[in-house]
Amino acid sequence: MARLSILSVLFFAAASLSAPNYGKNNNPPCRFAPLYSQDNVLEHPRDFAQDFLYWEGHFHQNNVGYNTANAMTYDGTLLDPTTGLATEKHPFSAASKELQHSTDNSGTITQSIHIMLLAHALDGDADAARFLAPNQPKKAAQQLAFQIMQTKLNTYLTFNATYPGFGGFLPWFLADKTMLTPTLDWVNRVPALDNGELIWAVYAAVQVLGESSQKEWKDLANGWQRWLDYTKKNAARVFYADAGKVCAVTTIKDQALPVGDARQSYKCEGSGTLNDPYEGELFMWWLYFFGGLSNANKQALLAVKRPQLVRKEYQMGNIGPITVQEGFWFSAHEQWKLLELPYLSIPLVQRLFLNAERVRTCNSAIQHIPGMFASVNNSTDSSGQIIGYISDAGIPSISNQTTFELDVVTPYSVFPVMLFDRGVAFAWWLDMAKGKKMQNPYGSTESTRVDGTAVSSFVSWDSKITTVVANLGGVAEFAASKMKRDGIYDEFIDVTQREYGMKFSQPLNGERQPLCLPTATVPDAGLVDYTQCSKGS
Ligand SMILES: *[C@@H]1O[C@H](CO)[C@@H](O)[C@H](O)[C@H]1NC(C)=O
Ligand SMILES: *[C@@H]1O[C@H](CO)[C@@H](O)[C@H](O)[C@H]1NC(C)=O
Ligand SMILES: *[C@@H]1O[C@H](CO)[C@@H](O)[C@H](O)[C@H]1NC(C)=O
Ligand SMILES: *[C@@H]1O[C@H](CO)[C@@H](O)[C@H](O)[C@H]1NC(C)=O
Repeated sequence: MARLSILSVLFFAAASLSAPNYGKNNNPPCRFAPLYSQDNVLEHPRDFAQDFLYWEGHFHQNNVGYNTANAMTYDGTLLDPTTGLATEKHPFSAASKELQHSTDNSGTITQSIHIMLLAHALDGDADAARFLAPNQPKKAAQQLAFQIMQTKLNTYLTFNATYPGFGGFLPWFLADKTMLTPTLDWVNRVPALDNGELIWAVYAAVQVLGESSQKEWKDLANGWQRWLDYTKKNAARVFYADAGKVCAVTTIKDQALPVGDARQSYKCEGSGTLNDPYEGELFMWWLYFFGGLSNANKQALLAVKRPQLVRKEYQMGNIGPITVQEGFWFSAHEQWKLLELPYLSIPLVQRLFLNAERVRTCNSAIQHIPGMFASVNNSTDSSGQIIGYISDAGIPSISNQTTFELDVVTPYSVFPVMLFDRGVAFAWWLDMAKGKKMQNPYGSTESTRVDGTAVSSFVSWDSKITTVVANLGGVAEFAASKMKRDGIYDEFIDVTQREYGMKFSQPLNGERQPLCLPTATVPDAGLVDYTQCSKGS
């Protein structure tokens, strides 16, 4: 009897060797998701993160996620539908619409993700190091991040010297040559939202660099600070129309002329204005604090946004009512501002955004959707090309928009959940990653159809590294420290508290609802895992 139980203990120990060994594996297998159960990640989220970071980090390599020559990000890379390896660049012709999806063009938004990540690496964060330089000496990731930030600054300054009409801001650009050029469809044009995301990421990185006692680091902090100051000087000239109106996209008379040249001019493109209460707010704050606007204009900035901040109640089946801020589509990317500025330091806002994640998780759980929705690239077709972009993914009943496409889920939909509960966020990430082809040699795959019939054989900063940055906690804390030094922190808190307080003065509903866990898995519809990232490869 006694022998038997010893045997069964031994047997149990042997069996558990093939199960995940909770982050202690220096080189976890590429296809690690199926090795974990939901309970595993709920119990060991920090350990699960080690495997997650290790493989997402494979995206951060030359010619895939970025260009080491200029330290600039590439937008993303198509994958071979069979092997999962990155395919050749330039899969598209130069027609402007198609250029949007070219693998060597890059958005300013991806710069913001990159810099948020680097800020944590500079700070000496072990998880950022696991992403950037796993299995290397402790200082390696910090040094790499420092070099990248140095090269990046040179690239920005060269771009500014060549195309001074941008005023220091960035358009969409081609990053494959050492010197950046605007993509064909962004010649003489510059977007506000993307630059708002970029600027506050740099702001956070400057905080980290500036805290160092090393001269080199201080010099680099000062170099970036000069770039930030230059964008402050030009923010209103380039993007502010009048009476609270901010151009969503500005048309530049001539990108080669300096901002102050007598022949230079700026005007809003069409009627598009930046007045959303989501991530577009980041640029608004730059103008508000540093744009040199009169108090009347600052108040106008807030006033034009106010109508878009709307209270909504979510209700479905026995879930709800849960009070949330109305979404545009309620896509996960709309919560981006939480990564960059200290919104969650305000108790009301923290409670409201936690409610949003109650809704996001429970909406999928109650409908047995194997994942969650966010704007994302559609599947790739039989020739390996992306079919289209699905902007209108989210939660209809609590959105401003009325038409939706709800047939594709994406791993990055978990990033806002990550800011509140790592375990639950990873449970959803795992649920999607377990789908066929949802892991590849660069970590997670862009998206999968909910019926399991197709995936997007593509990898991008947006669909992958947002989750990594959220896992690191975003950079709001770094930003907050610098905001205090710059004397703008209290005003940020007061104004945000006041604006949200106006619309959410009644008690919030639904705060007792726990976050929900997945209730369905992506069906096996016959897809085969990538050969370079399959069990046993
Ligand atoms: C989808 O593709 C576009 C264009 O290549 C890219 O900018 C974006 O990051 C991709 N992913 C998401 C989630 O938007
Ligand atoms: C950007 O270029 C302009 C025009 O050459 C120059 O005056 C300015 O100092 C540059 N900004 C930075 C941050 O170097
Ligand atoms: C996404 O792909 C599916 C399947 O081909 C198609 O039915 C749908 O119209 C596509 N949507 C977009 C926005 O590309
Ligand atoms: C969406 O927002 C706009 C701008 O605030 C508003 O005019 C419109 O009525 C909203 N639509 C819905 C369906 O809520």
